[in-house]
Amino acid sequence: MINYTEKIPNNVDLGRDRVLQRALEHWQPAYLGWWYDMGPNESHNYQVYLRTAISVEPDGWAQFGYVQMPEYRWGIFLQPRDEKRQVNFGTHKGEPAWQDVPGEYRSTLRRVIVTQGDTEPASVEQQRLLGESCPSMYDLRNIFQVNVEEGRHLWAMVYLLHRYFGRDGREEAEALLERRSGDADNPRILGAFNEPTPDWLSFYMFTFFTDRDGKFQLCALAESGFDPLARTCRFMLTEEAHHMFVGETGVSRIIQRTCEVMKENKVDDPSDVRALGVIDLPTIQKYINFHYSVTLDLYGSDVSSNAANYYTSGLKGRFEETKISDDHLLIDAQYPVSEVVGDKIVAKNVPALTALNERLRDDYIKEIESGLSRWQRVIDKAGIPYRLTLPHKGFHRAIGNFAGHWISTSGEVLTEAVWKKRESEWLPSDADRAYVQSLMSGRVVEPGKFANWIAPPVRGINNQPLNFEYVRFN
Ligand SMILES: [Fe+2]
Ligand SMILES: [Fe+2]
Repeated sequence: MINYTEKIPNNVDLGRDRVLQRALEHWQPAYLGWWYDMGPNESHNYQVYLRTAISVEPDGWAQFGYVQMPEYRWGIFLQPRDEKRQVNFGTHKGEPAWQDVPGEYRSTLRRVIVTQGDTEPASVEQQRLLGESCPSMYDLRNIFQVNVEEGRHLWAMVYLLHRYFGRDGREEAEALLERRSGDADNPRILGAFNEPTPDWLSFYMFTFFTDRDGKFQLCALAESGFDPLARTCRFMLTEEAHHMFVGETGVSRIIQRTCEVMKENKVDDPSDVRALGVIDLPTIQKYINFHYSVTLDLYGSDVSSNAANYYTSGLKGRFEETKISDDHLLIDAQYPVSEVVGDKIVAKNVPALTALNERLRDDYIKEIESGLSRWQRVIDKAGIPYRLTLPHKGFHRAIGNFAGHWISTSGEVLTEAVWKKRESEWLPSDADRAYVQSLMSGRVVEPGKFANWIAPPVRGINNQPLNFEYVRFN
């Protein structure tokens, strides 16, 4: 018998909800089984200095202490309810926000929740072997923090499925533990979540680019007229910020270390840089190109009737919907999307309702641009004449108007043959990946020590020193 308030911190009155208890009682052992199989490899006896959310109060959502990871208290938290909240967009605009699933939207909502939920365990699976090659104890602790919180995000979505979707919801919750990232027969739902995360440069890129897609999807769902979904996603966003911090600072520290080594040794040729055991800037640029393009696909087709339906029905809003001043119906509004015509890329206006994926993608790109400029500053400060750039939006895309076209990083429309010939200038080659992985053949876990290819962070976690024992291996 599970003691719910102890074991599963929550603000959904779990102790009194018998139906939910029964569902979770059944699901929890399966979840733990999944964690043992697919969670961070060989981590089960480690004591990790983690934050745990035990309430939604400012002092409760980030409690730090040593935790044996399988005993992490995966809690269920919703942002407190605002009794006056309304549906803020679409045809139901102005109605009180729904506390139950509207029958007509039941299957659509379930699909939205399952698609979001599926990404959470997927990223844990993608990252499960990285502990073996961590560049420091600090970084090891950070990846474990990300992993347990993605686990909690899965709990958050499973809570909604169990609580609001009856038997179908329970079946979907089980299927979330059965799919596997990259599995040929039973893969995760979205493409980027089936790509491997084979090294720490990929991990930081993933948490910068792909967790940020997570942020934007959560922001759009946090506007939902279905109030429990909105409140769940709001709370998840507090955790997502740390994941993106890990990614942005991770890449930044790699760039910083490369620049230091380049300056100290007065080298700039990539092969000389590599000879010194750090990652050359052109390779970092190629990783950016890869992760950016793969993540852009996650937003879906530029023109999408599904996106229009989600909006009109009040299920999924725009980024910062309530801060936008327009009619929130988008009946006559237009929005520009790009398409390939002959050998040119042209912009054309389409009904804004159908272009909501593209709009969310554009909001995302704005944030990515400012992150990239912060990385650029590290290079500029070192006085190294190298520019990081974002590839053209159409580069290396598999979904939407650019799919099937061969677009260069600078936005030229090429033939397949020409593109393929230049591919290794733009995307990491097998040799590039092998080089990056060769730097990460073992782990660095002496407190306060960092691998040669990455600079230490500016400060430790929760004001602890850099040489703090963030992980006890026992
Ligand atoms: Fe997540
Ligand atoms: Fe995340």
